[in-house]
Amino acid sequence: MTTTPTTTPMTTPTTTTTPTGIPATLQLGGLTLQSPFLLAPLEGVSDAGFRRLCFEQGAGLTWTEMIRARGLAKRNKSTLDLVDTFDADVPTGIQLLTTAPNELLDALGVIEDLAATTHPHFKNICAVDLNFGCPSKDIVQIGAGPAMLKRRGRMQSILQALATWKTTTTLPVKAVSCKLRLGMNAREAEHQVFLPIVEAASGVGLDFITIHARHAGMRSRDPAVWSAIGAAKRVSSIPVIGNGDVTCRADAERLRQQSGCDGFLIARAAINSPFVFRELRGRGSLLPTVDEVQRERTRYEETAEALQTKEKYRIAHADGFARLLRIARGEVGGAVMVPKNSHM
Ligand SMILES: Cc1cc2nc3c(=O)[nH]c(=O)nc-3n(C[C@H](O)[C@H](O)[C@H](O)COP(=O)(O)O)c2cc1C
Repeated sequence: MTTTPTTTPMTTPTTTTTPTGIPATLQLGGLTLQSPFLLAPLEGVSDAGFRRLCFEQGAGLTWTEMIRARGLAKRNKSTLDLVDTFDADVPTGIQLLTTAPNELLDALGVIEDLAATTHPHFKNICAVDLNFGCPSKDIVQIGAGPAMLKRRGRMQSILQALATWKTTTTLPVKAVSCKLRLGMNAREAEHQVFLPIVEAASGVGLDFITIHARHAGMRSRDPAVWSAIGAAKRVSSIPVIGNGDVTCRADAERLRQQSGCDGFLIARAAINSPFVFRELRGRGSLLPTVDEVQRERTRYEETAEALQTKEKYRIAHADGFARLLRIARGEVGGAVMVPKNSHM
């Protein structure tokens, strides 16, 4: 666990493309990813052990769960603990929630300070993403998350602050980005309030943008609006990562065909089976064997023990492995792992 992710800041890599048109690798700023499939930021799920498993199965980049910039800026211990970037072999970015440029810069300054002193594992952060998608009541009530989309001046200054910070930071951060929903509600989504933010992100020099193709009023079972990812792609001069309802290779191919997106962010399908990443890359089944589940469960538990991973993650993954084991043993149908959506 000592190397840093492969980076090529100055050169343009040769892009190999699979027969179906999905690139095998993906360049995001100075990061060369070995896969265009990214593990989503997942609260209560994306801890270090789970990120390693997803990476080994074929995720090109992984994220911590959302971390509040305010808590970091105040050096709140439980907030700092969320930056569990101990594993230098696994390309990992942190995702921050903020409503103000100064707060963001204070938070990033704390990370730089601690990386140089007591928390050297902060040096493993290779990307920073800003969350403008979380629809939780407590988030939108403070004007954060998708409530920020209509505060264009404020958004512009936050995005600019992040892009400028990247050029001067002492951390080895190679890519900065933001993750957007389509708006607060159907009306905002219809008015495409997210598009000026896509343009602003491109304009200030972010390296890529992720579109979660739902507005904040939509439930996760409502089909993602993939045409919005295509709309973002048309106005963006930086790579666009499509998110929403990608559960298998065939979904990714359809989303790529419909939107032209450059990469894919995978959330619930990875919770259902971290082995989905090998299926997405055309290298195996998302249904693991009994031996595979047992081996990965043991490895996860050993990592969690060594890193003193919080109980909330361990409980979530114990449930997940137990469910995968029942499926692998044929006690329940494997079809439960592939949620139906309207893109079939
Ligand atoms: C359990 C869970 C936790 C999540 N936590 C975060 C988070 O911390 N930050 C974030 O931007 N999105 C979070 N999301 C949203 C996902 O990253 C993703 O945008 C959404 O689930 C749509 O993707 P999917 O259709 O592949 O599931 C979370 C989703 C789930 C199901």
